[in-house]
Amino acid sequence: MTKTIIYGKTGQLASALAHELQDKAVIFASTEYDFSNIENIKHALENIDAGAIINATAYTDVNKAETEEDAAYKANALIPEALALYAREKNIPFIHYSTDYVFSGESDEPHKESELPAPLNAYGRTKLAGEKKVAAIGGKYLIFRTSWVYDHKGKNFLNTMLKFAKERESLSVVSDQFGAPTYAAHLAKATINILNNLEENNFPSGIYHLCNSGFTSWHGFAEEIFKIARKNGIELKVNEVKPISASEFPTPAKRPANSMMDCSLVSKTFGITMPDWKDGVRECMGKIIK
Ligand SMILES: NC(=O)c1ccc[n+]([C@@H]2O[C@H](COP(=O)([O-])OP(=O)(O)OC[C@H]3O[C@@H](n4cnc5c(N)ncnc54)[C@H](OP(=O)(O)O)[C@@H]3O)[C@@H](O)[C@H]2O)c1
Repeated sequence: MTKTIIYGKTGQLASALAHELQDKAVIFASTEYDFSNIENIKHALENIDAGAIINATAYTDVNKAETEEDAAYKANALIPEALALYAREKNIPFIHYSTDYVFSGESDEPHKESELPAPLNAYGRTKLAGEKKVAAIGGKYLIFRTSWVYDHKGKNFLNTMLKFAKERESLSVVSDQFGAPTYAAHLAKATINILNNLEENNFPSGIYHLCNSGFTSWHGFAEEIFKIARKNGIELKVNEVKPISASEFPTPAKRPANSMMDCSLVSKTFGITMPDWKDGVRECMGKIIK
């Protein structure tokens, strides 16, 4: 039986993809396999009838990447390049993910794929380098730019906010950066849906924006998390959520004020409309209380 290769095991998206594909997937953990080298990839995959490769790995620690740009570059540019090369040699689809952080976010409008990227931080620079390397190799590739990814168990904004809200009465959350919180399970479902419906002879290689629908600020996201958590019987101590500006919460890496992405191209090309971001919070909370 043809298998889909997932590179990445414990990550938010990798876990969601594995859940979605079940026994149709073969999983390779980044800690066990160094896929920045095409020879390693060939060796690992030589006996598998692979129908597609999905790269769910990345160096995602945005602040740490400021001081570890070489390590981030290896993960975010060299690994996707090697995987894309292997996929091209085998003439199979290669799916890769990128980020809203390739944009500087100075405009007020949702970013379209046609907009010129201008990353503000090292993570964004390395992810943009990865996009360019995959596109330069060509073949059958899809790069999905997504934003603010979370799941029920990862190290992410939702889980951090829930932890703080159980410990503290007052929280301050940035209210002048806007984007689409994206539930990893929804992103995985959409990916597999797209993959299953690809046409062999009309492959639409390219970059597509793929996030949950609607937009909010980090502050709006936090308020929704607390509302849904309480609805699910989770006890929280927090009784004040103060909106603050990003300048009041300095971080090593600069982040775009506008992370909103226009996902109409993915809808037009693949007939995919992602659920509203609030549905993602609701579903994720359902998993947390299980
Ligand atoms: N998280 C977000 O908010 C966000 C936002 C926009 C775009 N994205 C993109 O979405 C994709 C999935 O992200 P995610 O949230 O699932 O990330 P994640 O939970 O941080 O998982 C990333 C996985 O990448 C692997 N990894 C970590 N460091 C690595 C390194 N130095 N070299 C090779 N592999 C390494 C690990 O895989 P193993 O488990 O196999 O060790 C890790 O579990 C990535 O392409 C990311 O850039 C994420």
